[in-house]
Amino acid sequence: MTAVADDASPKPLSPLDVVDSTVSHSARIWNYWLGGKDNYDVDRRVGDEILAYVPELVRSARADRHFLTRAVHYLAAEAGVRQFLDIGTGLPTVDNTHEVAQRVAPESRIVYVDNDPLVLTHAHALLTSTAEGATAYIDADVRDPEAIVRAAAGTLDFDRPVAITMLGILNFVLDDDQARDIVHRLLDSVPAGSHLVVSHPTTEVDGEAMTGAVDYWNSQGTAPMRLRTRDELARLFDRVTLVEPGVVSCSRWRPREDAELGRIVDVTHFCGVGVKP
Ligand SMILES: C[S@@+](CC[C@H](N)C(=O)[O-])C[C@H]1O[C@@H](n2cnc3c(N)ncnc32)[C@H](O)[C@@H]1O
Repeated sequence: MTAVADDASPKPLSPLDVVDSTVSHSARIWNYWLGGKDNYDVDRRVGDEILAYVPELVRSARADRHFLTRAVHYLAAEAGVRQFLDIGTGLPTVDNTHEVAQRVAPESRIVYVDNDPLVLTHAHALLTSTAEGATAYIDADVRDPEAIVRAAAGTLDFDRPVAITMLGILNFVLDDDQARDIVHRLLDSVPAGSHLVVSHPTTEVDGEAMTGAVDYWNSQGTAPMRLRTRDELARLFDRVTLVEPGVVSCSRWRPREDAELGRIVDVTHFCGVGVKP
């Protein structure tokens, strides 16, 4: 595990040193769907093959990202959260967690966690911070929550509420019990008033096509993933109290008031936000 603290310089890694550009990677395919430039031919090829199953996935990926912006804004502006543990960060894009949180509250402290070497090479873009706040990056696996919490404790105060954001990552933990156990162990390390934010691809929209897409994904040497139903996703929130509107399609979680409600359609990524009682 590599921890890159806010007061340390990230190691000067070159993507060519650490990245296998012949095998597609989830962070890079995701970046491609979001319209980013940090991806290779192999990621675009696999990304396009997956879109042939479910063309709506681009809309869903972007709705998931917009959910992140609205959820972090809600947490900072309405729930008063000032500490964020963002696990499964992905490649930097517009409106990263620290940018949204620090726009509302400059003193916000954010720790990013991912296990993709390319995300590590871009960590410097995640380590910008207001002078009042802090950001840090940890290279770690979500399957080791205690190691994550130990490293994050250098930046976050685990005696005060923390928002644990896990967007598009628990789908890489195939076993239901293990996924729930990871969430429980993370929640055990934070006090009441802390929040859990999860988004996850589901079988709720275009289920058959999504299953075909995931079978294809899993045949391509990327980290294997799975879909969950809305109910299976809801069970990951069994230790927290869901805030309104509960577990819904990402496009329907507190849409902006200026959005044209009539145009909102369900996307395959579902999400929820809960608070630890
Ligand atoms: C689909 S992207 C989501 C990125 C971002 N959270 C968002 O919603 O836009 C999933 C991220 O999880 C990371 N990831 C996958 N498996 C992981 C694991 N076992 N431990 C840590 N990170 C992991 C990937 O590297 C990737 O950056």
